[in-house]
Amino acid sequence: MNVSHLKTSARSLSSSVVVGMFDGRRPAPGTSTYARGQSAALAALEFEGKAGQVAVLTAPDGRRIVFVGLGDEVDVELLRQAAGLGRKAVAGADAIATTLHQVGLDGAISATVEGFGLADYRFERYKSTAKTRPELLLELVGGTVDTSDISTALITIDSVNLCRDLVNEPAAAKAPMAIAERLAAIASAGGLAVEIWDSARLGAERMGGMLGVGQGSDRPPALLKLHYRGRRPKAKLALVGKGIVFDSGGLSLKPADMMEAMKDDMAGGAAVAAATIAIASLGLPIEVISFSAFAENLPSGTAQRPGDVLEARNGKTIEVLNTDAEGRLVLADALALAAEAEPDLIVDLATLTGACKIALGPRIAGVFGNDQPAIDRVLAAGAAGGERLWPLPLPADHRPMIDSDVADMKNTGQGRYGGAIAAALLLNEFVGEVPWVHVDIAGPAFLDKAEQYLPKGGTGFGVRTLVELARSFG
Ligand code: BES
Ligand code: ZN
Ligand code: ZN
Repeated sequence: MNVSHLKTSARSLSSSVVVGMFDGRRPAPGTSTYARGQSAALAALEFEGKAGQVAVLTAPDGRRIVFVGLGDEVDVELLRQAAGLGRKAVAGADAIATTLHQVGLDGAISATVEGFGLADYRFERYKSTAKTRPELLLELVGGTVDTSDISTALITIDSVNLCRDLVNEPAAAKAPMAIAERLAAIASAGGLAVEIWDSARLGAERMGGMLGVGQGSDRPPALLKLHYRGRRPKAKLALVGKGIVFDSGGLSLKPADMMEAMKDDMAGGAAVAAATIAIASLGLPIEVISFSAFAENLPSGTAQRPGDVLEARNGKTIEVLNTDAEGRLVLADALALAAEAEPDLIVDLATLTGACKIALGPRIAGVFGNDQPAIDRVLAAGAAGGERLWPLPLPADHRPMIDSDVADMKNTGQGRYGGAIAAALLLNEFVGEVPWVHVDIAGPAFLDKAEQYLPKGGTGFGVRTLVELARSFG
């Protein structure tokens, strides 16, 4: 997407214009010239300006005017959504003018650009009929525009869309080493320090969780480490992501319908890497180390068996009672590694449990942690970035849920109940005393149905929260 700022619409190249209306058909700043004489037409379409409403009219000069509702009290997220709906209302347009950024809100310019850019995403790599689309031109008409707000929004959009592409990519095309190398190439081009651990190195480094999960696949696991150090960093942040490129369940095989979307099980690993790349590109004054733990969970003659015991990086042992609870096993190693770096905060992102998706639905991520200020900081970052997170409990007295008869812990909980908590309790064993927040993105990483500016399929969830989190230290 290309974005330009025009003082007036005189030089606009767009034949579509997206403008805002508050509830009661009150024109938002910049809208009145487009709304003149359209009252009756808007009323006939029952367009009142409520949040979520969209009406497309044709102006006398032939231009299409898209009215998007902003409701009574607009905030940046509503604006982002309105921009996204506006883009989708004229999905075929290659150039769109808008005045939405003139709404008097802090962050209105970035939110407007993000809404258009995030809604403009399509994954068409495997459509033989796909035409190459020209890049969208977005014209911000009128108002004052700080171009740095445009460039920061474009960086965010690129990283979110990178994450979406990787999630939508079929598992066959993203072997653990291949996806690690693809991200590494992008990260080194952005000036980050990059390391990839192959299976030999993982063995030498005692990464028993990653090796155990990966041993059923012909495509061995790979750990991607990215390191960014901004100027005079205010904090050191460690990010950890679950990167299961395909989760069949392993020998504890999933039923076919539960397996259909399991190419998305690397969404956490992709999100932390994409966010680190964005944070570096923004030049934020922070140090970030990210660990993406890529592996493939398949059944085979070499796969781990229910009842096997593995030893993770920090020496703790885990009885693998269910090979489908594999995310916590790769995270155990990666979290221990992150804790060794002695960061101020560890945040992990993982499509970890069906239980979390049952609890909070497909739009909201669950948040756990061992430190309330850190949890609050991540929740605030989610709100600032337009991603929805909700806290769930991590009760210390529930530790017996994961007691094992033979090892330090087991990788399951008690039956089907409290599954998201059981998983978080296990992760807690690997972070030591470091402040840590775990975000279970099993719901929002992948959607069955498109929303305002979110596509069907991979959403890139978490990237915006992590970028805002990094910003919160500046
Ligand atoms: N990748 C799944 C969790 C998942 C489910 C993500 C649905 C997105 C949508 C995870 O590895 C898993 O299978 N978890 C099991 C754990 C159980 C066997 C203890 C689950 O949640 O059922
Ligand atoms: Zn699983
Ligand atoms: Zn999984």
